[in-house]
Amino acid sequence: MPTVTTPPPPDLTDLRARLKSVGQSHVLNFHDRLDPVAQRALEAQIDAIDLESLPSLIDRYVKTRPQFPLPEAIQPAPYFERGGSGWDIGAARKRGQDLLRSGRVAAFVVAGGQGSRLGYEGPKGCYPAGAVTGRPLFHVMAEAILGAKDRYAVRVPWYIMTSPLNHAATESFFKEHGFFGLNPEDVRLFQQGVMPSFDAATGRMLLASPGEIATNPDGHGGSLKALHTSGSLADMRRRGVEIISYFQVDNPIVNALDPVFIGLHADKSVSSGEMSSKMVPKANAAEKVGVFCSSGEGPRKGRVEVVEYSDLPAELAQATNTDGSLRFVAGSIAVHLLGVGFVEKLNTDARFELPYHRADKKVPCCDPTTGEPQSPQANNGVKLERFVFDALPLCERSVVLETDRTEEFAPIKNATGADSPESCSRIQTERAARWLEAAGVKVPRKPDGSPDCVLEISPRRATTAEELKAGERPASVERGIRLAW
Ligand code: UD1
Repeated sequence: MPTVTTPPPPDLTDLRARLKSVGQSHVLNFHDRLDPVAQRALEAQIDAIDLESLPSLIDRYVKTRPQFPLPEAIQPAPYFERGGSGWDIGAARKRGQDLLRSGRVAAFVVAGGQGSRLGYEGPKGCYPAGAVTGRPLFHVMAEAILGAKDRYAVRVPWYIMTSPLNHAATESFFKEHGFFGLNPEDVRLFQQGVMPSFDAATGRMLLASPGEIATNPDGHGGSLKALHTSGSLADMRRRGVEIISYFQVDNPIVNALDPVFIGLHADKSVSSGEMSSKMVPKANAAEKVGVFCSSGEGPRKGRVEVVEYSDLPAELAQATNTDGSLRFVAGSIAVHLLGVGFVEKLNTDARFELPYHRADKKVPCCDPTTGEPQSPQANNGVKLERFVFDALPLCERSVVLETDRTEEFAPIKNATGADSPESCSRIQTERAARWLEAAGVKVPRKPDGSPDCVLEISPRRATTAEELKAGERPASVERGIRLAW
């Protein structure tokens, strides 16, 4: 039998002294009342927090409300137009296909978020997304990976970041569904880190219960650290992976392994191969997407950055060019490529620390003096999160590639309206109709031009119109039909 060694419990006297020195002694207020198991759990939770960093973090982000600094002399970031001149899409596609074929690319989905806007209880990846099949988001994404496996005759490892809030449920879901036909050895689930949630008024860590500190996942930027701490980067090295294809769990029509994007990212004449991004032209000035910008001056001059929609002043969001088009038009769809070497560097060089972003939230907690549970009616807590796109300005040369939103962006974020299950299903149908028509299949349409059917094409079959045209396809589409291909 292998011997399992568990780390010794932290010394309580030492823990008390460390907590006192950072003004957080209250988290042990109820320690004496806990049973031994709960005591050890609380001690371990405290020990896992970087206590010494708390005072400066709290001063910087909790006691003050930091304004996110805009890039100096802010200007729109340049981007490669999808259908544009000046670069060779064919050469990029070929380079990307070669990298895929030689097993240099891994898929990576961040799925640690809570899906609270959607009002869905379970992990968001379990949410039904296929317009006809109702396949869950994870299943649709697994199909994309199986498609790449077929197309490039290669095993594509898939890394899935969860959080302590949904890890066990996500793992069970994959097991229950037989990993959706993927080889379990090629699917690696790991948890992101957490941050303590803070009392907005005092800067003290909130207690979820007398025996537990309230925590929140540390943001998708935490993925860059978790890739390292989970051993995933080492696993990638072992497999010969050089490029990580990063996407969010909410977008079932993402082109998870796009050879054109991969080839552009790997083109040394334009990119440092560290981190690249995809953008879509914003639908309107108010659309809630981050915007690709860059500095016109200063130490970050020319470096690409994303300014989150909530940080972009209205006058910049609404600014237009002489032809009336939006000046800051490049909206982030949160699709990136990351060099494995770049992520390793972020984890080993302290100069590459990402900033935190503050979110004010209602955090259920207990009174630190009485232990009474409290359900706040107004925001009482501060959550600190890191954002993955804050790694962009750390890159030497980062490229942004334009893509067509109707082809690659149909996120499920809200229960109704824009970015909802309904809009996602409609976009899937419209995209499938375009692809089928381009392949010579007649699609019935209503008088208003919209398809008179519901269609879903699995990314295992095709990820572009060209792939559908080159492969098998349905012979016909009947009016009113629900067709999954
Ligand atoms: C995000 C981007 C926005 C982009 C938009 C495109 C941020 C802050 N904003 O907005 O710039 O234009 O997507 O759809 O990211 N996640 C984790 N762990 C966490 C937090 C989030 O894994 O701790 C994952 C979620 O599971 C999800 C993704 O990150 O897959 C996005 O999170 P969400 O908070 O929904 O971002 P949005 O506000 O939709």
